[in-house]
Amino acid sequence: MSKDTAPHGAWTSRWAFILAATGSAVGLGNIWRFPYIAGENGGGAFVLVYLVCVLLIGIPIMMAEVAIGRRGGMSPANTMRKLARQAGVSQRWSGVGYLGALTGFLILSFYSVVGGWALYYIWVMASGSLASAGDEAVRATFESLQANPGLMLLCHSIFLVATMAFIARGVNKGLEAGVRVMMPALFLLLVILAVYGVTRPGFSEAMQFLFVFDWSKFNGQSLLAAMGQAFFSLSLGMGAIMAYGAYVPKNIQDKRTGKLVPISIASTVLIVAALDVVTSLLSGVAIFPVVFSNELDPTEGAGLLFVTLPYALANMPMGALIGAMFFLLVLFAGLTSSISIGEPAVAWLVEKGNSRVKAATIIGALTWVLGVGSLLSFNVMSSVNILPGLNFFESMDYVTSNIMLPLGGLLIAIFAGWVMRETHIRKELDMKNFRLYLGWRVVLRIFVPLMMIIIFWNELFS
Ligand code: PHE
Repeated sequence: MSKDTAPHGAWTSRWAFILAATGSAVGLGNIWRFPYIAGENGGGAFVLVYLVCVLLIGIPIMMAEVAIGRRGGMSPANTMRKLARQAGVSQRWSGVGYLGALTGFLILSFYSVVGGWALYYIWVMASGSLASAGDEAVRATFESLQANPGLMLLCHSIFLVATMAFIARGVNKGLEAGVRVMMPALFLLLVILAVYGVTRPGFSEAMQFLFVFDWSKFNGQSLLAAMGQAFFSLSLGMGAIMAYGAYVPKNIQDKRTGKLVPISIASTVLIVAALDVVTSLLSGVAIFPVVFSNELDPTEGAGLLFVTLPYALANMPMGALIGAMFFLLVLFAGLTSSISIGEPAVAWLVEKGNSRVKAATIIGALTWVLGVGSLLSFNVMSSVNILPGLNFFESMDYVTSNIMLPLGGLLIAIFAGWVMRETHIRKELDMKNFRLYLGWRVVLRIFVPLMMIIIFWNELFS
């Protein structure tokens, strides 16, 4: 294998890439993490800043990741090395790819634990044991899961094996068909749950909480959390989107005319980001009315999804069926994300000459071990803090989302904006509207680094 060509496949159509990237972006980050982080950070102010971060930081960086990925055509580490060579700068830039692979490995370890909860809840809902349950019974179900490391380990293992099985088969086999059906279904169920939320007595309070900007709740911590959530939710900063971008062909055959047409990165990215944001907001609208109607605690933390929605579902007609389907779809959304989280590390090992199966097994095994630390932090290790006030699970979540992903994103922005040859990145993006291109470039070169450095500085050193 020559050093510069990768042994990976390619998407079969533009929609295949959109579906895969949306599959990566939409996941537990939207349905589980967004509501819980928004709740902990006071709601409205957080949500607004999160939206601004998606628009002004996330979307420009996502365009850069896809463009870099497509030009490089390899795992993020080797793509960065190749492009650094083309730009005549130090090949140490490949470090951005290695940092990403490491970040992905850390994220996957706790993501898989939460994915395992979703798996367990399919069964809980389907069994009907929560039918017309009160909030105490619902909470007790979640607490008994957390108190049971054996059960969590089983679910974590199943989730991780499923992830690695998908990755081992190659990301575009099987995934495409699955995403095409399951994503719309997830959307539909979220809409149903959101409509149910609208009919709850706590709806207006929930809307105020989520959408009314309250300066008094606004601080450096929520700013950093909002930026971190934007990166986490859009799958940015660790090469997941870069790796998927590498499987995007330059031109694609148009179904109707049969001609080869170029794929527009900008419009593709806009579709993915819009679907991602809408899913997060829908989850909020489904969850918070239940919180306020039943005097639950919005600052509940990582368990928020698993105590609010089961409670709503338990008291809804056909709740067991809808609930089981809902968690099945959450599980699926989680899987289509988790495979993209593992892909940069696996693709890199494959380029080192390993088979996909071997590479996925190695990464899977390492991740499994680290995940045990996360699941123990809900029980036997609950009082062991890694960072001040944060247990193992919370520390992993905090460091990866709030520091490692934004740092990776910052380096990617600097690379695409300042280091790469302008003609290269312009050719890759190939935007029809030159003014829009210039706008993107200015934002990426100046605004993104400046904002991010200010946000980091403000939080980490003050
Ligand atoms: N975006 C995914 C989600 O919202 C998580 C993810 C993070 C995926 C980082 C890839 C990279 O669930």
